[in-house]
Amino acid sequence: MPEKMRVGIIGCGWIAHSHMQAYLKMDDVEIVAAADLIPGKARAFLDEFGLTKVPAYGIHTELLEKAKLDAVSICTYNTTHRQCAVDALQAGLDVLCEKPMSVTLQEAVDMAKAQKKTGKILSIGFQPRYDPDMIMVRDLVRSGVLGEIYYVQTGGGRRRGIPGGTFIRKDLAGVGCLADIGCYGLDMALNAINYPKPLTVSAYSSDRFGKNPKYCAEYDQFDVDDFAVAFIRLEGGIALDFRMSWAMHMDTMGDTLFLGTEAGVKVKSPFPDKPWGGAWDGTIGPVFMYHDVAGNLVETKVPSKAVPNFNRFDAKVRAFVDAAKTGGDSPIPASQILYNQAILDGILRSSQLGREVEITIPEI
Ligand SMILES: NC(=O)c1ccc[n+]([C@@H]2O[C@H](COP(=O)([O-])OP(=O)(O)OC[C@H]3O[C@@H](n4cnc5c(N)ncnc54)[C@H](O)[C@@H]3O)[C@@H](O)[C@H]2O)c1
Repeated sequence: MPEKMRVGIIGCGWIAHSHMQAYLKMDDVEIVAAADLIPGKARAFLDEFGLTKVPAYGIHTELLEKAKLDAVSICTYNTTHRQCAVDALQAGLDVLCEKPMSVTLQEAVDMAKAQKKTGKILSIGFQPRYDPDMIMVRDLVRSGVLGEIYYVQTGGGRRRGIPGGTFIRKDLAGVGCLADIGCYGLDMALNAINYPKPLTVSAYSSDRFGKNPKYCAEYDQFDVDDFAVAFIRLEGGIALDFRMSWAMHMDTMGDTLFLGTEAGVKVKSPFPDKPWGGAWDGTIGPVFMYHDVAGNLVETKVPSKAVPNFNRFDAKVRAFVDAAKTGGDSPIPASQILYNQAILDGILRSSQLGREVEITIPEI
């Protein structure tokens, strides 16, 4: 690899800005191209950052054919993640793909297979993992102090917070609140317990708020889920209770809980007094541990590890660049996120069928 890693950005919408801002802070990275399907959008995006000489392309395949690249950030809407990632991996590039990994389990399997075949990096953009408080929760849960973990509850849910644009259209987002914010709660909880394999899902999802003009300005475009609850059996005898919503008449459907035979950990919803703050979707509320000490039932507040002005988005992109430059492992690997995607896929299948479904994950 040359001294500066040559990066292209595919999809120049909202999240592409955080990728660009992170890359531009790095001396060892050069932005060499950007692409967007919408005519003029990639050019305007590059110009916004003063990169007036950097070439702009249309569809991602044009960028892959014409630009000399080492890596790409995939910042397109969910339904195109699979195609963009597989094409970029097959072109010999390292890939940082935005979350959710894909729409269906099969798409995630295709991506994981392409990663394995090419040996390149495929990392999925779950920046909350880099938050010092999230790391504290992960390390606490993984330390063994909880004993045998048998139950996890996560998700919470927003009272109000239906987005618009490409997030609410099935042809572009594929999935609604589950793909937008549900995958975060799942990632943080599953990462803390070392991503056990999901076995079965029994779920319910609905779309009552998104289709109602009282709650969603773009209600006539809305055709995805806005609410989901699920009971998931995980390998190792662990029950996972998951809830998520973009809108409901409640502040939150619950804090995140890890129950073990020796202790329990509660991660409070970040801002339950705010309309959008009842979901565990990136930020974190106070953390408590429940345990017995000399026969006493003790509740301990775990001190926050928050670092002022810490930028999780920058940390995510830096971890990807470091792995790509050193030939290291994918920081947030497809092999793990496949299980996250399998759960989302199972939730949608189960709620459509109205019964529990098995999760079968093909060999990669
Ligand atoms: N990590 C986070 O915090 C975070 C936040 C917001 C969005 N996201 C994720 O980022 C992704 C994009 O979200 P957004 O809000 O930026 O969407 P957006 O709709 O603003 O932008 C996506 C862009 O991708 C372009 N595009 C789609 N397919 C393309 C292709 N094949 N080639 C070139 N361009 C293509 C579209 O024209 C569009 O301009 C989604 O998957 C979303 O879930 C992540």
